[in-house]
Amino acid sequence: MSDAVMTDTAQRQALAEELDSFNCRVAQPTDGPLFTREPQSAMKPAHWKASDLERLLEKIGAKLKLEAGGQRRTLRLANRGLPFGTTPTFWASIQYILPGEIATAHRHTASALRFIMKGRGADTIVDGERYEMNEGDLVLTPAWTWHDHEHKGDEPMIWLDVLDISLVRSMHATFFEGSDKPRQAVSDIPDRSYRQFGSGIMRPLNDASVPELNPLLVYGAERAQEALRLAAELPPDPYDDTALEYLNPVTGGSALPTIGTVLQSLRPGMHTKPHRHTGSVVYYVMRGNGATIVDGTTFEWGPGDFMAIPPWAVHEHINRSDDTPAMLFQVNDIPALKKLGLYREQAA
Ligand SMILES: [Fe+2]
Repeated sequence: MSDAVMTDTAQRQALAEELDSFNCRVAQPTDGPLFTREPQSAMKPAHWKASDLERLLEKIGAKLKLEAGGQRRTLRLANRGLPFGTTPTFWASIQYILPGEIATAHRHTASALRFIMKGRGADTIVDGERYEMNEGDLVLTPAWTWHDHEHKGDEPMIWLDVLDISLVRSMHATFFEGSDKPRQAVSDIPDRSYRQFGSGIMRPLNDASVPELNPLLVYGAERAQEALRLAAELPPDPYDDTALEYLNPVTGGSALPTIGTVLQSLRPGMHTKPHRHTGSVVYYVMRGNGATIVDGTTFEWGPGDFMAIPPWAVHEHINRSDDTPAMLFQVNDIPALKKLGLYREQAA
């Protein structure tokens, strides 16, 4: 549409007012393009340094209260190109919880996950199941599951919170409910889903789970990192080196329907080939030092840093160390794109 010349400009403008009163319109010469040859994202590549985030987290810890009613104390990773969200589909935030605090029970239609960045001893209850959360664990709160957290440890704890709230909002499908009790009742068998499905290689015979609903709510750090260590001894993928996706043990698909979660390692000295794909990505650096080049901008990263990669941006990763692997946790919206038939990938 953008390249087309409109020879009937005056007629189009003259029609506009009459059509408008009937809630109709025709394309106008001043309209932006309906189609672009390839994705043109307003999202900007972004980098957050651990040292800045730590200082800001301490500040919000001192100044913001954790109050009943479901509001969490979080530092949202914003994007200068977007009016809302870290990426077009999700918000990534860092939640800061002090010893003794309770983040009260609520539920929402946005799917969410927690990845524990630092600390131990907080527990979470998801739909009546209690888990202790420790560094490196991934905990899911699938759509409409009740969840609350209590920090029983003695040091402040931080975790990454991701919600597909931008996607849910764009579809006008937001529901939220707070509970009148701060914490949920707990079922008498702890860690039930982890006992049933947490091995990743076995599942209960006669399991009656609904395939679309992931029955596994927690992915322990130890098992996930052991799987990554084993896979890292295989030849590298040219674009991602070693990347393993957390999966729904019933379907073999992504752990959440819309959000992809990936544990990735870059072997010493690795420099991946550049590529691009639809779907946006946020990276959290767990260990190591390196660089990610996004559409020509180089982000030098270290432990605790975050990076965001816009849809269709060319990117490549470098591990700067020649003797230590780097480990990154990645969140993306690729499962949502694949379900809609919109996923594409291209070597640069
Ligand atoms: Fe929540």
